[in-house]
Amino acid sequence: MLSLRLPIPSENALAPLKTKPSRFLNPRTQTHLYCLPSAAPKPQAKLQIPRATTADVARKDLEEEEPLPEGLRRELMPKHVAVIMDGNGRWAKQRGLPPGEGHKAGVESLRAVIEISARYGIKVLTVFAFSYDNWIRPKVEVEFLMSLFEEVIKSELDNFAREGIRVSVIGDSTKLPISLQKLIADAEEKTKENSIFQLIVAVSYSGKYDVLQACKSIAQKAKDGLVQVEDIDESLIEQELETNCTEFPYPDLLIRTSGELRVSNFLLWQLAYTELFFAPEFWPDFGKDGFVEALVSFQQRQRRYGGRNT
Ligand code: FPP
Repeated sequence: MLSLRLPIPSENALAPLKTKPSRFLNPRTQTHLYCLPSAAPKPQAKLQIPRATTADVARKDLEEEEPLPEGLRRELMPKHVAVIMDGNGRWAKQRGLPPGEGHKAGVESLRAVIEISARYGIKVLTVFAFSYDNWIRPKVEVEFLMSLFEEVIKSELDNFAREGIRVSVIGDSTKLPISLQKLIADAEEKTKENSIFQLIVAVSYSGKYDVLQACKSIAQKAKDGLVQVEDIDESLIEQELETNCTEFPYPDLLIRTSGELRVSNFLLWQLAYTELFFAPEFWPDFGKDGFVEALVSFQQRQRRYGGRNT
Protein backbone atom coordinates (compact mmCIF):
# COMPACT_ATOMS: atom_id res chain seq x y z
CA MET A 1 0.00 0.00 0.00
CA LEU A 2 1.44 3.27 -1.05
CA SER A 3 1.82 5.91 1.59
CA LEU A 4 3.54 9.18 1.12
CA ARG A 5 1.86 11.01 3.95
CA LEU A 6 4.09 12.33 6.65
CA PRO A 7 3.52 10.61 9.99
CA ILE A 8 0.62 12.24 11.80
CA PRO A 9 1.72 13.43 15.23
CA SER A 10 -0.34 12.36 18.24
CA GLU A 11 -2.97 14.87 19.26
CA ASN A 12 -1.25 16.17 22.35
CA ALA A 13 1.87 16.70 20.31
CA LEU A 14 0.06 19.26 18.22
CA ALA A 15 0.07 22.85 19.25
CA PRO A 16 -1.43 25.81 17.47
CA LEU A 17 1.24 28.19 16.38
CA LYS A 18 1.25 31.09 18.81
CA THR A 19 3.16 33.79 16.95
CA LYS A 20 1.35 35.66 14.21
CA PRO A 21 -1.18 32.91 13.64
CA SER A 22 -2.78 34.66 10.71
CA ARG A 23 0.40 34.21 8.71
CA PHE A 24 -0.10 30.50 9.03
CA LEU A 25 -3.60 30.44 7.72
CA ASN A 26 -3.82 27.86 4.95
CA PRO A 27 -5.16 29.90 2.03
CA ARG A 28 -6.84 26.86 0.51
CA THR A 29 -8.71 25.49 3.49
CA GLN A 30 -8.85 28.65 5.64
CA THR A 31 -7.75 26.53 8.56
CA HIS A 32 -4.75 27.19 10.75
CA LEU A 33 -1.63 25.18 10.23
CA TYR A 34 -0.15 23.49 13.26
CA CYS A 35 3.41 22.77 14.13
CA LEU A 36 5.07 20.38 16.49
CA PRO A 37 6.04 21.83 19.86
CA SER A 38 9.73 22.01 20.53
CA ALA A 39 9.50 23.36 17.06
CA ALA A 40 10.85 22.27 13.89
CA PRO A 41 13.24 19.52 12.95
CA LYS A 42 16.88 20.21 13.67
CA PRO A 43 18.50 21.80 10.65
CA GLN A 44 20.61 18.78 9.78
CA ALA A 45 18.05 16.15 10.80
CA LYS A 46 16.88 13.95 7.95
CA LEU A 47 13.17 13.97 7.28
CA GLN A 48 11.51 10.69 8.09
CA ILE A 49 9.81 9.80 4.86
CA PRO A 50 8.53 6.42 3.82
CA ARG A 51 10.71 5.10 1.00
CA ALA A 52 9.99 3.20 -2.20
CA THR A 53 7.32 5.73 -2.97
CA THR A 54 7.52 6.42 -6.65
CA ALA A 55 8.30 2.78 -7.21
CA ASP A 56 5.07 1.75 -5.58
CA VAL A 57 3.19 4.23 -7.66
CA ALA A 58 4.59 3.09 -10.97
CA ARG A 59 3.99 -0.55 -10.10
CA LYS A 60 0.39 0.19 -9.17
CA ASP A 61 0.02 2.24 -12.34
CA LEU A 62 1.03 -0.76 -14.39
CA GLU A 63 -1.35 -3.06 -12.60
CA GLU A 64 -4.51 -1.01 -12.60
CA GLU A 65 -5.82 2.42 -13.46
CA GLU A 66 -6.02 4.66 -10.43
CA PRO A 67 -9.50 6.08 -9.79
CA LEU A 68 -9.30 9.83 -10.16
CA PRO A 69 -10.64 12.45 -7.73
CA GLU A 70 -13.99 13.95 -8.62
CA GLY A 71 -13.70 16.59 -11.30
CA LEU A 72 -10.78 14.96 -13.09
CA ARG A 73 -10.93 12.97 -16.32
CA ARG A 74 -8.10 10.78 -17.48
CA GLU A 75 -8.57 11.62 -21.15
CA LEU A 76 -8.16 15.33 -20.40
CA MET A 77 -4.98 14.88 -18.40
CA PRO A 78 -2.07 17.10 -19.52
CA LYS A 79 0.76 15.17 -21.10
CA HIS A 80 3.41 17.54 -19.77
CA VAL A 81 3.24 19.60 -16.59
CA ALA A 82 5.96 22.11 -15.67
CA VAL A 83 6.35 23.44 -12.16
CA ILE A 84 8.13 26.42 -10.61
CA MET A 85 8.47 25.21 -7.04
CA ASP A 86 8.53 28.64 -5.41
CA GLY A 87 8.29 29.74 -1.79
CA ASN A 88 10.58 27.34 0.04
CA GLY A 89 12.58 30.20 1.54
CA ARG A 90 9.50 32.04 2.79
CA TRP A 91 8.03 28.80 4.15
CA ALA A 92 11.19 28.32 6.20
CA LYS A 93 11.36 31.96 7.27
CA GLN A 94 7.83 31.82 8.64
CA ARG A 95 9.02 29.05 10.90
CA GLY A 96 12.27 30.73 11.91
CA LEU A 97 14.29 28.19 9.94
CA PRO A 98 17.10 28.56 7.41
CA PRO A 99 16.11 28.37 3.71
CA GLY A 100 17.55 24.86 3.42
CA GLU A 101 14.79 23.53 5.65
CA GLY A 102 12.26 24.94 3.20
CA HIS A 103 14.01 23.15 0.34
CA LYS A 104 13.99 19.90 2.31
CA ALA A 105 10.29 20.27 2.99
CA GLY A 106 9.88 21.08 -0.70
CA VAL A 107 11.24 17.66 -1.61
CA GLU A 108 8.21 16.10 0.08
CA SER A 109 5.84 18.18 -2.00
CA LEU A 110 7.80 17.11 -5.07
CA ARG A 111 7.51 13.44 -4.11
CA ALA A 112 3.74 13.83 -3.81
CA VAL A 113 3.50 15.52 -7.21
CA ILE A 114 5.69 12.90 -8.92
CA GLU A 115 3.56 10.21 -7.33
CA ILE A 116 0.25 11.47 -8.59
CA SER A 117 1.60 12.49 -11.96
CA ALA A 118 2.66 8.89 -12.56
CA ARG A 119 -0.63 7.58 -11.17
CA TYR A 120 -2.85 9.83 -13.25
CA GLY A 121 -1.17 9.17 -16.56
CA ILE A 122 0.76 12.43 -16.99
CA LYS A 123 3.76 11.56 -19.14
CA VAL A 124 6.26 14.33 -18.32
CA LEU A 125 6.87 16.51 -15.28
CA THR A 126 9.49 19.27 -15.55
CA VAL A 127 10.49 20.94 -12.30
CA PHE A 128 12.54 24.10 -11.92
CA ALA A 129 14.90 23.03 -9.17
CA PHE A 130 17.60 25.67 -9.61
CA SER A 131 17.67 28.60 -11.98
CA TYR A 132 20.86 29.78 -13.64
CA ASP A 133 20.01 33.05 -11.94
CA ASN A 134 20.09 31.35 -8.51
CA TRP A 135 23.89 31.09 -8.54
CA ILE A 136 24.05 34.55 -6.93
CA ARG A 137 22.38 33.21 -3.75
CA PRO A 138 24.44 32.85 -0.55
CA LYS A 139 27.10 30.13 -0.87
CA VAL A 140 25.73 28.20 2.09
CA GLU A 141 22.28 27.89 0.48
CA VAL A 142 23.70 26.93 -2.91
CA GLU A 143 25.89 24.25 -1.34
CA PHE A 144 22.95 22.97 0.66
CA LEU A 145 20.85 22.66 -2.49
CA MET A 146 23.60 20.86 -4.40
CA SER A 147 23.92 18.35 -1.55
CA LEU A 148 20.16 17.96 -1.42
CA PHE A 149 20.01 17.19 -5.16
CA GLU A 150 22.70 14.53 -4.67
CA GLU A 151 20.87 13.04 -1.72
CA VAL A 152 17.55 12.85 -3.55
CA ILE A 153 19.06 11.33 -6.71
CA LYS A 154 20.98 8.75 -4.67
CA SER A 155 17.97 7.75 -2.64
CA GLU A 156 15.50 7.54 -5.55
CA LEU A 157 17.57 6.33 -8.49
CA ASP A 158 17.06 2.60 -7.99
CA ASN A 159 13.31 3.10 -7.70
CA PHE A 160 13.21 5.23 -10.83
CA ALA A 161 15.30 2.74 -12.78
CA ARG A 162 13.28 -0.26 -11.66
CA GLU A 163 9.86 1.23 -12.14
CA GLY A 164 10.07 2.70 -15.61
CA ILE A 165 10.70 6.33 -14.74
CA ARG A 166 13.13 8.20 -16.94
CA VAL A 167 15.17 10.99 -15.37
CA SER A 168 16.53 13.81 -17.50
CA VAL A 169 18.33 16.94 -16.38
CA ILE A 170 18.42 20.18 -18.37
CA GLY A 171 20.52 23.27 -17.74
CA ASP A 172 24.19 24.18 -17.65
CA SER A 173 25.58 21.21 -15.76
CA THR A 174 29.18 22.39 -16.17
CA LYS A 175 28.73 24.70 -13.18
CA LEU A 176 27.55 21.88 -10.90
CA PRO A 177 29.87 20.03 -8.50
CA ILE A 178 31.63 17.15 -10.29
CA SER A 179 30.08 14.61 -7.91
CA LEU A 180 26.60 15.85 -8.87
CA GLN A 181 27.46 15.87 -12.57
CA LYS A 182 28.47 12.20 -12.27
CA LEU A 183 25.29 11.28 -10.42
CA ILE A 184 23.19 13.02 -13.06
CA ALA A 185 25.00 11.26 -15.91
CA ASP A 186 24.54 7.94 -14.13
CA ALA A 187 20.83 8.60 -13.47
CA GLU A 188 20.21 9.58 -17.10
CA GLU A 189 22.09 6.56 -18.40
CA LYS A 190 20.40 4.07 -16.05
CA THR A 191 16.90 5.29 -16.85
CA LYS A 192 17.20 6.27 -20.51
CA GLU A 193 15.15 3.35 -21.83
CA ASN A 194 12.30 3.95 -19.37
CA SER A 195 9.04 5.24 -20.78
CA ILE A 196 6.23 5.10 -18.20
CA PHE A 197 6.92 8.58 -16.94
CA GLN A 198 9.64 11.18 -17.42
CA LEU A 199 10.92 13.51 -14.73
CA ILE A 200 12.88 16.44 -16.17
CA VAL A 201 14.82 18.40 -13.59
CA ALA A 202 15.92 21.89 -14.63
CA VAL A 203 19.10 22.71 -12.73
CA SER A 204 21.24 25.77 -13.49
CA TYR A 205 18.66 26.31 -16.23
CA SER A 206 17.92 29.54 -18.10
CA GLY A 207 15.20 29.75 -20.73
CA LYS A 208 17.00 32.58 -22.51
CA TYR A 209 20.23 30.61 -22.59
CA ASP A 210 18.36 27.58 -23.92
CA VAL A 211 17.14 29.61 -26.91
CA LEU A 212 20.59 31.16 -27.31
CA GLN A 213 22.43 27.85 -27.41
CA ALA A 214 19.88 26.50 -29.91
CA CYS A 215 20.51 29.55 -32.16
CA LYS A 216 24.28 29.09 -31.90
CA SER A 217 24.05 25.41 -32.75
CA ILE A 218 21.88 26.10 -35.80
CA ALA A 219 24.18 28.94 -36.89
CA GLN A 220 27.15 26.59 -36.67
CA LYS A 221 25.32 23.97 -38.72
CA ALA A 222 24.45 26.60 -41.32
CA LYS A 223 28.10 27.71 -41.39
CA ASP A 224 29.20 24.12 -41.88
CA GLY A 225 26.72 23.71 -44.72
CA LEU A 226 24.63 21.14 -42.83
CA VAL A 227 21.53 23.35 -42.78
CA GLN A 228 20.20 25.83 -45.32
CA VAL A 229 18.88 29.11 -43.89
CA GLU A 230 15.53 28.62 -45.61
CA ASP A 231 15.18 25.26 -43.83
CA ILE A 232 15.34 26.82 -40.38
CA ASP A 233 11.88 26.49 -38.89
CA GLU A 234 10.19 25.95 -35.52
CA SER A 235 10.71 22.24 -35.71
CA LEU A 236 14.46 22.66 -36.16
CA ILE A 237 14.64 25.00 -33.19
CA GLU A 238 12.62 22.52 -31.15
CA GLN A 239 15.19 19.86 -31.95
CA GLU A 240 18.00 22.05 -30.67
CA LEU A 241 16.39 23.09 -27.39
CA GLU A 242 17.34 21.25 -24.21
CA THR A 243 13.83 19.82 -24.05
CA ASN A 244 14.75 17.65 -27.04
CA CYS A 245 15.16 14.99 -24.37
CA THR A 246 11.41 14.44 -24.38
CA GLU A 247 8.70 13.40 -26.79
CA PHE A 248 6.45 16.16 -25.34
CA PRO A 249 8.58 19.32 -25.19
CA TYR A 250 5.71 21.78 -24.79
CA PRO A 251 4.15 21.84 -21.31
CA ASP A 252 0.36 21.81 -21.38
CA LEU A 253 0.26 23.29 -17.90
CA LEU A 254 2.67 25.47 -15.93
CA ILE A 255 2.18 25.73 -12.19
CA ARG A 256 3.89 28.33 -10.03
CA THR A 257 3.42 28.38 -6.29
CA SER A 258 3.83 31.11 -3.67
CA GLY A 259 1.62 33.74 -5.26
CA GLU A 260 4.29 35.11 -7.61
CA LEU A 261 2.96 35.80 -11.10
CA ARG A 262 6.07 35.40 -13.22
CA VAL A 263 7.71 32.90 -15.55
CA SER A 264 11.21 33.77 -14.28
CA ASN A 265 13.31 32.62 -17.24
CA PHE A 266 11.90 29.09 -17.23
CA LEU A 267 10.96 27.32 -20.48
CA LEU A 268 10.43 30.48 -22.54
CA TRP A 269 10.04 29.08 -26.05
CA GLN A 270 8.27 25.99 -24.82
CA LEU A 271 5.61 27.90 -22.85
CA ALA A 272 4.14 29.64 -25.92
CA TYR A 273 0.70 28.00 -25.56
CA THR A 274 0.95 26.62 -22.05
CA GLU A 275 -1.96 27.10 -19.65
CA LEU A 276 -0.85 28.90 -16.48
CA PHE A 277 -1.86 28.15 -12.91
CA PHE A 278 -0.68 30.31 -10.02
CA ALA A 279 -1.20 28.97 -6.53
CA PRO A 280 -1.00 31.05 -3.34
CA GLU A 281 0.64 28.35 -1.22
CA PHE A 282 4.35 28.06 -0.71
CA TRP A 283 5.72 25.00 -2.47
CA PRO A 284 6.09 22.81 0.68
CA ASP A 285 2.37 23.34 1.39
CA PHE A 286 1.25 22.65 -2.19
CA GLY A 287 1.44 18.86 -2.37
CA LYS A 288 -1.27 16.59 -3.68
CA ASP A 289 -4.26 18.84 -2.93
CA GLY A 290 -2.75 21.80 -4.71
CA PHE A 291 -1.75 19.68 -7.68
CA VAL A 292 -5.21 18.18 -8.05
CA GLU A 293 -6.72 21.67 -7.93
CA ALA A 294 -4.35 22.78 -10.70
CA LEU A 295 -5.31 19.76 -12.82
CA VAL A 296 -9.03 20.42 -12.32
CA SER A 297 -8.50 24.03 -13.39
CA PHE A 298 -6.55 22.88 -16.44
CA GLN A 299 -9.28 20.47 -17.48
CA GLN A 300 -11.82 23.29 -17.47
CA ARG A 301 -9.81 25.45 -19.87
CA GLN A 302 -10.53 25.87 -23.56
CA ARG A 303 -7.32 25.84 -25.54
CA ARG A 304 -7.63 27.66 -28.82
CA TYR A 305 -4.03 28.15 -30.01
CA GLY A 306 -5.07 31.37 -31.68
CA GLY A 307 -8.15 29.87 -33.34
CA ARG A 308 -11.87 30.08 -32.51
CA ASN A 309 -14.14 27.69 -30.73
CA THR A 310 -16.42 25.83 -33.08
C1 FPP B 1 12.43 28.14 -4.87
O1 FPP B 1 12.10 28.60 -3.58
C2 FPP B 1 12.96 26.78 -4.80
C3 FPP B 1 14.23 26.43 -5.10
C4 FPP B 1 15.26 27.42 -5.53
C5 FPP B 1 14.71 25.04 -4.93
C6 FPP B 1 13.69 23.95 -5.14
C7 FPP B 1 14.31 22.65 -4.92
C8 FPP B 1 13.71 21.58 -4.35
C9 FPP B 1 12.32 21.57 -3.89
C10 FPP B 1 14.49 20.31 -4.23
C11 FPP B 1 14.19 19.45 -5.41
C12 FPP B 1 15.11 18.30 -5.51
C13 FPP B 1 15.37 17.65 -6.68
C14 FPP B 1 16.37 16.56 -6.72
C15 FPP B 1 14.70 17.99 -7.93
P1 FPP B 1 12.79 29.95 -3.03
O2 FPP B 1 13.96 29.57 -2.19
O3 FPP B 1 13.11 30.85 -4.17
O4 FPP B 1 11.64 30.53 -2.17
P2 FPP B 1 11.48 32.06 -1.73
O5 FPP B 1 11.11 32.81 -2.96
O6 FPP B 1 10.39 32.01 -0.72
O7 FPP B 1 12.79 32.49 -1.16
